[in-house]
Amino acid sequence: MTYRHFIDLWHVESAELRAILDEAHRMKKARAGWPKGRVDAGAPLEGHTLAMIFEKSSTRTRFSFDMAMRQLGGSSITATSSDMQLGRGETIDDTAKVLSRYVDAVMIRANDHSDVEAFAEAASVPVINGLTDRSHPCQIMADLLTLEEHGLDLKGARIAWVGDGNNVCASFIHAAPKFGFSLAVGTPKRFAPDEEDLEIAAELQGRIDLFETAEEAVAGADVVIADTFVSMGDTDAERRLEILEPYAVTAELMELAGKGAKFLHCLPAHRGEEVDEEVIDGPNSLIFDEAENRLHAQKAILRWCLDK
Ligand code: CP
Ligand code: NVA
Repeated sequence: MTYRHFIDLWHVESAELRAILDEAHRMKKARAGWPKGRVDAGAPLEGHTLAMIFEKSSTRTRFSFDMAMRQLGGSSITATSSDMQLGRGETIDDTAKVLSRYVDAVMIRANDHSDVEAFAEAASVPVINGLTDRSHPCQIMADLLTLEEHGLDLKGARIAWVGDGNNVCASFIHAAPKFGFSLAVGTPKRFAPDEEDLEIAAELQGRIDLFETAEEAVAGADVVIADTFVSMGDTDAERRLEILEPYAVTAELMELAGKGAKFLHCLPAHRGEEVDEEVIDGPNSLIFDEAENRLHAQKAILRWCLDK
């Protein structure tokens, strides 16, 4: 069986990522107007089952992967790690080897990125990163699909990230050299992106500009992206909210971006915290197309992983 893991964008060749996005666009168009539970023509993953393991909460990832498998003609099984022996100390290796005997692919949302890497190492089926403390690659594929649908040519586009240089930001940093957009990141020094991610982008000749203010980062941007100031697993909420307050995306901040600049947020959002209501619920916000596109992007990722 040919299979590939989908753990981080920088592991995947640019041409393959491009092909995944193209396939996502194609599949989405092909089923426009259909009931959501109808199986795609040709049922490309008929007979295939995805296991989903969650160590943290999820709405979008959980429902979109389940519907992705249904639309592809397959099925999924979901468990939280605390439902599993994994939560009582069974090793990642043993869990990966056992699940590889039952299912055709595994999606994991984990606290610790290295656990997903260890799972993939031990598994003999594809493993997909459904968010870790370090990255969220499926989210970025959905975001890029959304921007293209709204007419943005990613090559040469200027995308601005403001707030916390977190896991979602890291995957944007990995994506920049792969898709040829430049990324301007505006964060306080304390919450700047990881050096390791910046080194990866530099090695791949990506253009990442770091700023200490949101205003500098968004200047002339085609897209402004925000995320929660307190991610799952963060234990210093009060301090974060205080330090990150000047990085909130307000209507005034959006004025500094390019004319008609779009707004993205992976959700869940905290209106009045990292973004003002008039921005996130305004005409240039693409958040619900973005959420929908988790489904379409992940269908293409699943097919790529399973070579189907
Ligand atoms: N954006 C995202 O991953 O949402 P969930 O946490 O609801 O899965
Ligand atoms: N950065 C957020 C993203 C949630 C989808 C978190 O990790 O909680």
